[in-house]
Amino acid sequence: MPTTAKRLQKALAAVTSHYPRPVTPLADPPAGSGLKPVLGDDGIPFFGNTFEALSDPLKSAMQRFERYGPVSWSGSLNMNIVTLVGPEAVECAWMNRDKAFSSEQGWEPMIGPFFRRGIMLMDFAEHMHHRRIMQQAFSRPRLNGYLDLMTPHIEKSLANWDVRAGFPMYTQTKELLLSLASEVFVGSTLNADENHRLEKAFEAAVRGGQAIIRADVGNFTWARGLRGRELLQQYFRSEIPARRAGSGDDLFSVLCHSVDDEGNAFSDKDVVNHMIFVMMAAHDTSTIALSMMVHHLGRNPQWQQRLRDESLALGKDTLDYDDLSALPSMEPAFKETLRINAPVGMLFRKTVADTDILGHYVPAGTLIAIHPWATMLREEWWPNPTTWDPERFSPERREDKVHRFAWAPFGGGAHKCIGLYFGGMEVKSILHQMLLRFEWSVPADYTLDLEYGTGPTPADGLPIDIRRR
Ligand code: HEM
Repeated sequence: MPTTAKRLQKALAAVTSHYPRPVTPLADPPAGSGLKPVLGDDGIPFFGNTFEALSDPLKSAMQRFERYGPVSWSGSLNMNIVTLVGPEAVECAWMNRDKAFSSEQGWEPMIGPFFRRGIMLMDFAEHMHHRRIMQQAFSRPRLNGYLDLMTPHIEKSLANWDVRAGFPMYTQTKELLLSLASEVFVGSTLNADENHRLEKAFEAAVRGGQAIIRADVGNFTWARGLRGRELLQQYFRSEIPARRAGSGDDLFSVLCHSVDDEGNAFSDKDVVNHMIFVMMAAHDTSTIALSMMVHHLGRNPQWQQRLRDESLALGKDTLDYDDLSALPSMEPAFKETLRINAPVGMLFRKTVADTDILGHYVPAGTLIAIHPWATMLREEWWPNPTTWDPERFSPERREDKVHRFAWAPFGGGAHKCIGLYFGGMEVKSILHQMLLRFEWSVPADYTLDLEYGTGPTPADGLPIDIRRR
């Protein structure tokens, strides 16, 4: 058999072994339980609704919500997925009151080989144990330390930006945040070549989870991701003795020294796994948040000027942590951007026990797709949901108050984003410096071109017209 055919056969076998069950409708509720069945459909044979869900997950979730309500099932590559849209439905899975939802088993088929034993791929008591230790690395004094590492690097990078019409904001943000990660997360003393190798390995591991062919064949995305993971593992492992002996302020050193209130610390293996996962969790999310916020401010010049006036009034070129609260318009603009462009659009869980979601029976072993992005764009909870309008978070309006999970770009419950203050600090520090140095706009005829990565991701580099002030 020609090699390519063999490879394809191997890839297909790997895909189908990942999703071994035939599609059958979700089981009916047990007699007398008083529960309702979940409504849904199995799409086309074998592939189910996979293509529609992959090509436009927002549209697909919106249509399911309109057709079947907040809890619906769909067939996808030989398995059933239950989609949750709306604050009450997502709350059930996030709050996990009956411990029926496993994050580890939900995320494993998506990103397991690259991010196994990362904190999001742990459950219940073990997860809580690790989270308590990790929390030490996100305390207020630690955030101050990360900001001190970040600030000079941001200043240097922005000074070197070749700003112009059609500046690719997403691409540049990605590059900036990747190099910032080397400083803040790794505290790297590597030379430029080694640094580049590490960045490439990291990117490959992140992309791995988004591969279509989910098998270790050829030089496809999945295989490159596995090699990236291997290289990261080797690097972090080899560096641990030096980090344990030192007292750096970077996240890697901090994780080596983190101890919870009972004196528990991470093993070397834990540190490696957590480092790789946290870098991934931080990267695409902050890149989407910052570049999309710049885009919206380019489209809304009065808001851009309002933020700039506040930054000018502060009278400082760079931000300290305490200054974040002195820029009142920055927070609602950030929140509104995360609502419209949720960087993590969809989250996964798997049921490990029979459970009910809003009175619907969901059997054990069901994959669950939680949809904060669709939730934040539904008219049922948000007036004019597609309009970027930070005033909706003003004290007079507080539209987010409609439900505690109506605005939930950072998730909720035990796995709620541990880096939410870090992410806000990073985005706002960069934006403050941008507002003081540059002015920008989005060409009137520009149409946003989004593809789906971890969330809605600019597919064309996100051009903006930017100039120095
Ligand atoms: C705007 C930026 C960000 C957004 C929108 C975001 C969103 C999220 C969401 C939705 C989750 C929950 C996943 C789930 O429940 O399955 C999560 C978890 C997580 N995030 Fe973030 N994130 C952001 C930035 C960051 C940053 C900067 C870091 C680290 C510095 C980080 C670290 C983590 C970690 C470690 C978890 C897993 C927590 C756990 O399982 O206990 N995130 N994030």
